[in-house]
Amino acid sequence: MRKFLIAGNWKMNLTGAESARLARELAAQLPSGCPAETAVIPALVHLQAVRREIADTPIKLGAQNVCWEKKGAFTGEVSAAMLKEIGVAFVLVGHSERRHIIGETDPLLNKKTRAVIDEGLTVILCVGERLEERQGNQTMAVIGRQINASLAGVAPQAVAKEQVVIAYEPVWAIGTGLTATPRQAQEVHAFIRARLGELYGPEAAETIRIQYGGSVKKANAGELLTQPDIDGLLVGGASLAADEFIGIVQAARTAGTDRAVAIG
Ligand code: 13P
Repeated sequence: MRKFLIAGNWKMNLTGAESARLARELAAQLPSGCPAETAVIPALVHLQAVRREIADTPIKLGAQNVCWEKKGAFTGEVSAAMLKEIGVAFVLVGHSERRHIIGETDPLLNKKTRAVIDEGLTVILCVGERLEERQGNQTMAVIGRQINASLAGVAPQAVAKEQVVIAYEPVWAIGTGLTATPRQAQEVHAFIRARLGELYGPEAAETIRIQYGGSVKKANAGELLTQPDIDGLLVGGASLAADEFIGIVQAARTAGTDRAVAIG
């Protein structure tokens, strides 16, 4: 059974001291015996400070960005090997803010995805449609294109080693307070799993975790996680407050128990 992954994407927020404090609070408040996997994704420059706070806890470390090349003359970039060296487990690739604000393209995102996997880390590959694409009935076409392009050349072994997580984040739901309904999200998640099945076979597709992201908070986390193809949450704004993030983790614990009972 797929284990929920609850990750907090702190984006370009918090000072180093604030990041360390939040990590310390999360470490202290994380429910014991929690079956969900949890991760925090601070700004690159604060990874070390956060790592110190979560070192002896189950909370894992994620990075918001990575270079597509292994090393060399790429001023300002950080390689997957550098991230691995400081304890990073997950790397976000394809976040809509990088696609649409920074201008990262599918071919570049494919290179980044492969760089992460080649280093033995796990990619959280973000996909999602814009409002006008949803309104124009283009959602599945856009998501399908993003999945195919980003995963081109990614071997089935990487999937078998659980190095691929997908995050469905409708762009219109990010930071807007508008959440996809559980039904809208489930529809896209099922489509993504079917597409992964075409690429890697249905059995492998059943093992890949697909997170939902976009205005998630503790009040709506539980109902999203009761959907059969939603395997975790990628949380932005609400992950900046310890009680909200812990509330989301607790909702995952309850939903995980319900799902285990339902599956038997
Ligand atoms: P919000 O939860 O603030 O909508 O952000 C979602 C997101 O982009 C997580 O990566």
